Amino acid sequence: MLRIGNIIMKNQVVLAPMAGVCNPAFRIIAKQFGAGLVCAEMVSDKAILMGNEKTLEMLYVDEQEKPLSLQIFGGDKASLVAAAKYVDENTDADIIDINMGCPAPKITKVDAGSKWLLEPKKIEEMVSAVVEAVNKPVTVKMRTGWDEEHLYAIENARAVERAGGQAIAIHGRTRMQMYEGRANWDIIRQVKESVNIPIIGNGDVASPEDAKRMLDETGVDGVMIGRAALGNPWMLYRTVHYLTTGELLQEPSAREKIGVALQHMHRLIELKGERTGISEMRKHAAWYVKGFRGSTKVKELINKETTAVGMRQVLLDFVQKMEQEESLAFN
Ligand SMILES: Cc1cc2nc3c(=O)[nH]c(=O)nc-3n(C[C@H](O)[C@H](O)[C@H](O)COP(=O)(O)O)c2cc1C
Repeated sequence: MLRIGNIIMKNQVVLAPMAGVCNPAFRIIAKQFGAGLVCAEMVSDKAILMGNEKTLEMLYVDEQEKPLSLQIFGGDKASLVAAAKYVDENTDADIIDINMGCPAPKITKVDAGSKWLLEPKKIEEMVSAVVEAVNKPVTVKMRTGWDEEHLYAIENARAVERAGGQAIAIHGRTRMQMYEGRANWDIIRQVKESVNIPIIGNGDVASPEDAKRMLDETGVDGVMIGRAALGNPWMLYRTVHYLTTGELLQEPSAREKIGVALQHMHRLIELKGERTGISEMRKHAAWYVKGFRGSTKVKELINKETTAVGMRQVLLDFVQKMEQEESLAFN
């Protein structure tokens, strides 16, 4: 069971926070596909405090997405605490998550994201200040360390626990690794064994079987899935199903995938208007067709599309062509 503060998730499967991806359009789909908890894309503390319109829109939570975790990032105590208070008082989020994993230089340069991983003392001080200032449960998402020479995962996790953090999601890579190499699940296990708050394991869960293996090998309370769910929310559903019944469901057909891609597109347009919605949809559409025959060619067409009608046609033509080729191959 995964429980954070007084919030009990219906299962152990968590959609990872992903910038540019985890807005309500995709989060609602993830929820419909069974995720026990969905995490929103990271939001800058300073941008919240400046009242930036686009940023404040990113804090919108739809009733259907709950329980939901909103993630903030920052490097300075006063602004992080003030932004957390804003989220606490003005949003419907269930959980406030602090980003301690983002490896991007523009984030670490302002002492935010994975920069924190070098300073367990700062973590305790910052997380304590946020916990004291808000009513919602506070959690942290971190990496194993800055680099192989600075693997402070256990100290950092203990600092979060002492500060009153209610759960930790740990991605088994260092900041230096970015997204390369393998995630180190052994460190995830060590962190789980070192603290009493719930731990959510993350990194390289590419199949429902991986999710089970992570739970079995590390003892974590939940599994967080990121890239494997891009254009593939079935990964969440299949994982929930596999963990609860032991049965491995088939991968979806191209037609099923395109059906959900079109829903995703409509939700993005509702949220952001046609121009931005379609521009953002290009990367999602490319993920939805990934792995199917002819996907490289169709990606070129996807990247040129600027309208909903055009995008819909490209995707439907792709499925139709695939199905025709398949039926010819069988006859
Ligand atoms: C496109 C993309 C955007 C991401 N944005 C965030 C973010 O906003 N906050 C965060 O904590 N992690 C972010 N991450 C990291 C993921 O949450 C996750 O830790 C990482 O992808 C490893 O998990 P995976 O192997 O399941 O993909 C992002 C990852 C990707 C691929």
